[in-house]
Amino acid sequence: MASPPSTRQQPPIPDSTTARWWSKDTVAIVTGANKGIGYALVKRFAKLGLTVVLTARDKSKGLEAMDSLKVLGLDHNVRFCQLDISDLKSISSFVSWFRSGFDSFDILVSTLHLSLYNMHNASVSFNAMGENSMDKADTVIKTNYYGSKRFTEAMLPLFRRSASMSRILNISSRLGTLDKLKNTKMKAILGDRETLNEDQIERVVNVFLQDVAEGRWKAAGWPEIWTDYSVSKLALNAYSHVLARKYEGLVSVNCFCPGFTQTAMTDGKGNHSADDAAAMAAAIALLPPRCLTTGKFYAASTTSGMVSKL
Ligand SMILES: NC(=O)c1ccc[n+]([C@@H]2O[C@H](COP(=O)([O-])OP(=O)(O)OC[C@H]3O[C@@H](n4cnc5c(N)ncnc54)[C@H](OP(=O)(O)O)[C@@H]3O)[C@@H](O)[C@H]2O)c1
Repeated sequence: MASPPSTRQQPPIPDSTTARWWSKDTVAIVTGANKGIGYALVKRFAKLGLTVVLTARDKSKGLEAMDSLKVLGLDHNVRFCQLDISDLKSISSFVSWFRSGFDSFDILVSTLHLSLYNMHNASVSFNAMGENSMDKADTVIKTNYYGSKRFTEAMLPLFRRSASMSRILNISSRLGTLDKLKNTKMKAILGDRETLNEDQIERVVNVFLQDVAEGRWKAAGWPEIWTDYSVSKLALNAYSHVLARKYEGLVSVNCFCPGFTQTAMTDGKGNHSADDAAAMAAAIALLPPRCLTTGKFYAASTTSGMVSKL
């Protein structure tokens, strides 16, 4: 994997509708899928014929999303399960549900090449556009970084039983790329991609939370926009690299920044719709096996499709 971020242009990503190679035995799990990009991703995968697990932290919102899919005629291959990624009990219940709900899972794994795709999409930000309060920094880090990490850890044993290469796509943000970090000590830790490990990422996150608790975060060189959110994505990007390195050949792990997208997180402002962002995310998630990458950071570009940044 490359060390520092670069803006090297990648070949265009094949259109997932023209290079269909998956089947209904390809299962995509989408977190935070009751609205926004997550919901749009579920629609996209359902249209493309995958089996989809729509998850939401709030059961009633998840069931409402299922009703909307029904109206669109897209609910046939979609199952719902409640999942709050910031709650370990909820993660554990999800894993049990998944194992029992897909009761022929073992057979599917060994004979039908069931592939598992995890779309870590769920995230929070409590700041409106232009604001930068750290009042909820703990919750932001706990959800966006630790939530995605703990859910990944809980799912990895299932991934490793899958007959074909499983995939994780972390919906991240370019607000969390290394160039936004001016703290030289922290940058040196996260920038050494060959030796970076989970303990070091945790150390960086803890230093940030300590800086917030002790009121010195503004002067400490952390990213300047939506600082807590950006640090959570910085950590998620770094963790994705560590995972990609650790599971090379077994699990493909990439990040995707959807760009400025019209969702609740941006008060409906943005350069494109959640459906547009989901189409780009799905194209990366469904790269044909011969084009499959790992350890990459894809960023949506309004002008030229996709650019691989890390
Ligand atoms: N929109 C953008 O411009 C933009 C840009 C860059 C990156 N992104 C990333 O894109 C992804 C999707 O964001 P979005 O724009 O679609 O935002 P959104 O509309 O606010 O959706 C966020 C989703 O995450 C869910 N969520 C929050 N906390 C959760 C938890 N603890 N457990 C499970 N689900 C939880 C929310 O559920 P509730 O409805 O219950 O709150 C909601 O379904 C995020 O990772 C975000 O960081 C967005």
